[in-house]
Amino acid sequence: MKVTISLIKADIGSIGGHIKPSEELLKKVEEVVTTEGKGTLIDSYVGHTGDDIGILMTHTEGENSEKIHEFAFDAFMEGTELAKKQGLYGAGQDLLKDSFSGNVKGMGPAVAEMEFEERPNEPFLAFAADKTDPGAYNLPFYLAFADPMYCAGLILSPKMGKGYTFRIMDVEYTEGDKIVELNAPEDLYDIAALLRDQERYVIENIYSRETGDVAVSISTTRLHNIAGKYTGKDDPVALVRVQGNFPATGEVISPYAIGHFVAGFMRGSHHGPLMPVTKNSPISYFDGPPVVNCLAFCVKDGILTQPADVFDHPFWDYVRNNVSRKSEDIRRQGFFGPAMLPFSELEYGGIVDRLKNLEGKFTVRKEEVKAS
Ligand code: F6R
Ligand code: MG
Ligand code: MG
Repeated sequence: MKVTISLIKADIGSIGGHIKPSEELLKKVEEVVTTEGKGTLIDSYVGHTGDDIGILMTHTEGENSEKIHEFAFDAFMEGTELAKKQGLYGAGQDLLKDSFSGNVKGMGPAVAEMEFEERPNEPFLAFAADKTDPGAYNLPFYLAFADPMYCAGLILSPKMGKGYTFRIMDVEYTEGDKIVELNAPEDLYDIAALLRDQERYVIENIYSRETGDVAVSISTTRLHNIAGKYTGKDDPVALVRVQGNFPATGEVISPYAIGHFVAGFMRGSHHGPLMPVTKNSPISYFDGPPVVNCLAFCVKDGILTQPADVFDHPFWDYVRNNVSRKSEDIRRQGFFGPAMLPFSELEYGGIVDRLKNLEGKFTVRKEEVKAS
């Protein structure tokens, strides 16, 4: 059967700052999705990552379906009403427009979707990250789909030896979707040259070259490009099909042991190491550190199993300790050098005004010419 999985996520308000949504808010969103989706949605799951609520839906309406996006939009709108009533902080933060125009892409919520013919058994992963942006996935998915040092299947499995096609988007370009498709392994250096710049080039999809099947879908929204000002980091989601022709779950998650540095953290304006956390984790130290969680599901005729929380294992406690150490290390240098993002990426305008004011105070010293 052909099924579509849609993962749509937004921050519509949280308790005590940008920490986590209230239980009532989560329930409200879940309630709206299940009531409105009756008859159209096959199944759904609602959870949170930091201050963001994620809605996972299965259906047969295909990608970019107005109907499906509207369920999510309505749930976030009704949720926002409750968030306002409860006095939650940043109520409706990620809903940049308040009337629905057919597709939630470009409105604020992060969207990852994939339509495919279900395999007899269909395992997949749903990732959600908070306090960071879509480029946070560049390194882990590059390693999982193109580097045999992390993905043994690339050399061991006859089903994976042809490699994968990466569809990469230039998210600085705002006139339309500027994309390029490159093949691993032949175009590896070109892929690397783009993905190294996590703020500009981000992976949108990855496809198996053996079958042409979609393997990965990542939300590529950049809120500050949409809104033209700070509205919160983009807090991206990703869907990944695993096993068989695709990397194993263990291969896909292995790069998250690095705790690589990503943009985000406090005020969306710093670098911090990405911490793999368990489901429904809140935000803490320095409004961070940037976090990612990953739920593994199987889907059969569109019906979801219960989720398996892949970062809920003693191994990841060890990783979390290392990532805490890395967070503290970079925080020691405050705003200096790579600790704070470069000027173009700062999410708050204060520094722009400050520098503008200072410009007027600068003088240019003329070299005195001494008579010989
Ligand atoms: C980052 C984030 C927080 C806020 C910070 C200040 O994505 O959400 O770090 O930027 O707590 O928030 P405001 O400006 O809402 O007071
Ligand atoms: Mg928030
Ligand atoms: Mg968030």
